[in-house]
Amino acid sequence: MKIPFEQLYRQKYYRLLDEVFDSSFLSEGRMLRDFEEGFGRFTGVPCLGVSNGGTALLSIFEYIGVEGKDVIVPANTFWATAAAPKRAGANVIYADCNRDDLCLSYEDLKKKITKNTKAVVIVHIGGHIAFEIEKIAALCKERAIFLVEDCAHVHGGTWRGKTGGDWGFAGAYSFYATKTMPMGEGGMVCSHNEDFMQWLKHYRNYGKKVAGGNVSYVMKNGFNFRMNEVSAALGLIQLERLPEILNWKRRLASKYDKIFANTIVFPEGMISGYYKYIVFDYELKQETGKVFARTDFGPEIEGIPYDLPNSTWIAAHHKCPPIYYGWDSADQAIDELRTILLK
Ligand SMILES: Cc1ncc(COP(=O)(O)O)c(C=O)c1O
Repeated sequence: MKIPFEQLYRQKYYRLLDEVFDSSFLSEGRMLRDFEEGFGRFTGVPCLGVSNGGTALLSIFEYIGVEGKDVIVPANTFWATAAAPKRAGANVIYADCNRDDLCLSYEDLKKKITKNTKAVVIVHIGGHIAFEIEKIAALCKERAIFLVEDCAHVHGGTWRGKTGGDWGFAGAYSFYATKTMPMGEGGMVCSHNEDFMQWLKHYRNYGKKVAGGNVSYVMKNGFNFRMNEVSAALGLIQLERLPEILNWKRRLASKYDKIFANTIVFPEGMISGYYKYIVFDYELKQETGKVFARTDFGPEIEGIPYDLPNSTWIAAHHKCPPIYYGWDSADQAIDELRTILLK
């Protein structure tokens, strides 16, 4: 497996690195501000860069204040989604997903909300927007519960003019090496809540505030969740490449749509970022990792009993043909792809 990084973009990146070194700011400089503004334009939501997707989630829960409170999390996600509220002191309550979108089930969520529920996490898993996002956002608003969007998979997924992070209180993106927009490590928090975003500027930097040359510490629980300038420069380049990566993935997905009948059917107008292409009940000759396996379930990791039939069904029945950028058979015609993939 070879992940392409075209010469043109390498040269652009090297030029940005020269700018970083010339500026003498290896951290807290212009690259980060430019990257935050650029990603903010891309998502339509104000953004602040942090060290990774996990610290993006943790920052949100630390601000909300979930100590001793319940946070409802879908069981079928990467462990980071549950580990973050747990680290912030919450009791994590696991909910089931739907079989049609693999995302948090509105029906199961309603059953799990109690007076102690402070927040709900929705994961736009696989690269599309959770089909029930609007119902879930409305329910959270009505019950005064914080809705947190885990956007680690959803770069480029859109619905009704919005992308991940635009429905809830805040969203957390990851730029981990395997993600649609990879930076090795990196994260972005997006939110329309100005108080939270002001708080985060200090929180991600040990609670430090610099105003008019004076340094003060406006909180005691801040820590180092900063993104450095070298990473932010790479973020700028990856953001520029992102439309090309998304188009490439969408072209391959439209071929897969002709090969696989049993796949996800998106609601009218929804466009996936295709972090993964998901199929059900096929034998494949080539596949990438599943979106999640039974061993990824939070309650499985915690060793607690659970009854989440849809998550269990999906884990057993779904597979993912390759859709990572640069897969070397992607340019094959549909018939060839069928032969390459199907047993
Ligand atoms: C759904 C989900 N949430 C959160 C994360 C955490 O992101 P990071 O690895 O950047 O901390 C990941 C992936 O790594 C993920 O897949």
